[in-house]
Amino acid sequence: PASESTSLAAGYQEIRPPIFEFTDLFVRGIGEATDVVDKEMYSFRTKGDDDITLRPEGTAGVVRSYIQHSLHAQGDVQRLWYCGPMFRYERPQKGRQRQFHQIGLELLGTDDPRADAEAIAVATDTLKAIGLANLSVSLNSVGSREDRQAFRSALNRYLEPFQDDLDPDSQARLIRNPLRILDSKVERTQELLIGAPQLLETLCPESRSRFDRVRSQLEALGITYAIDPKLVRGLDYYTHTAFEIQSDDLGAQNAVCGGGRYDGLVSELGGPETASVGWAMGMERLILLLQEKQEAPQLPVDVYVVSKGEAAENVALAIAQQLREAGIATSMDFSGSAFKKQFKRADRSGATWAVIIGDAEAESDRVQLKHLESGEQVTVERTDLVSAIRAPRS
Ligand code: HAM
Repeated sequence: PASESTSLAAGYQEIRPPIFEFTDLFVRGIGEATDVVDKEMYSFRTKGDDDITLRPEGTAGVVRSYIQHSLHAQGDVQRLWYCGPMFRYERPQKGRQRQFHQIGLELLGTDDPRADAEAIAVATDTLKAIGLANLSVSLNSVGSREDRQAFRSALNRYLEPFQDDLDPDSQARLIRNPLRILDSKVERTQELLIGAPQLLETLCPESRSRFDRVRSQLEALGITYAIDPKLVRGLDYYTHTAFEIQSDDLGAQNAVCGGGRYDGLVSELGGPETASVGWAMGMERLILLLQEKQEAPQLPVDVYVVSKGEAAENVALAIAQQLREAGIATSMDFSGSAFKKQFKRADRSGATWAVIIGDAEAESDRVQLKHLESGEQVTVERTDLVSAIRAPRS
């Protein structure tokens, strides 16, 4: 809910793309020489002989939908958000599942550097809203297509003499996707990269100045970041801004959020030239971090009903129903354990009120209403319960 309200506050609308798409969309969108397309897609042939894939990410589907439904005709800029399951055939480990969930955001239709800053700001606001502040933003520019091509050749030239010393994965990448070698976790490969050309140094002056403008917009918004010249991202559609938000508390899979600009994707998939920027967060990783803080997200309930004894327990069910019908979010204790234990759970539930029903209340038309924070407790007629809960407290 926090992420939803932050996106909504920033003027983003929800989009619900399907869970699967034609395989070709992901191959063309994400890029053939990426790990996602090469190794991680759950692809199937349907009875109608269509090749489909469970979505490994959300951007390609959003862009397909943007083109198919001519969203570009609805105004110059589209601000969209989504959340839901994604699928990647990866080796499962802490923070990495084969079915995981993302919340994502896409801002389509502008190349204004302020849009990059806005997208990053909505991401950091979202993380703050759910109580995660101890995170770092890494930023880089992968430049225009031409910049990337130039860097690719330069990196290739630099690494070729060391080809035999590279790890097998990087050797394969040298031909197909040398930028990904920068990401390698192999120590020897990282050592070889020490004198390698840097992406930021090969940017043309326009790309360089665009990057500087994004930086100054972020600084104006008070967002701290570190430049990571090796940040290239695992999907091929990025141009210019690339960023990640990481937490040191997550171990190897430390990226909570990843995104960037993808100015060429819409046109490559058959739509009009549409500069765009976006990101996605892994919800399971957010949960891991919240668990580490021992702050399991609470359901927003207003009332927690506690009761003991058969008659009281039946009344409790009816009262909980009465409250819910009145639009009051209500939870109730089914345990039948001692009141003291039930009150502990009431406190933990985050509810404002506890409604208490014991033997005496079961035989009358009254209940006890306790304000959990102050501990104040009053006797209330059942017919007055809803208004007592709604009454403003002085
Ligand atoms: P991504 O970096 O591949 O970007 O994924 C975004 C986030 O999803 C990661 O930072 C991580 O938190 C989470 N994630 C990825 N794989 C897994 C996994 N196997 N298990 C758990 N969490 C995972 C994208 O998907 C792009 N579509 C983001 C984007 C949107 N770029 C532009 N617009």
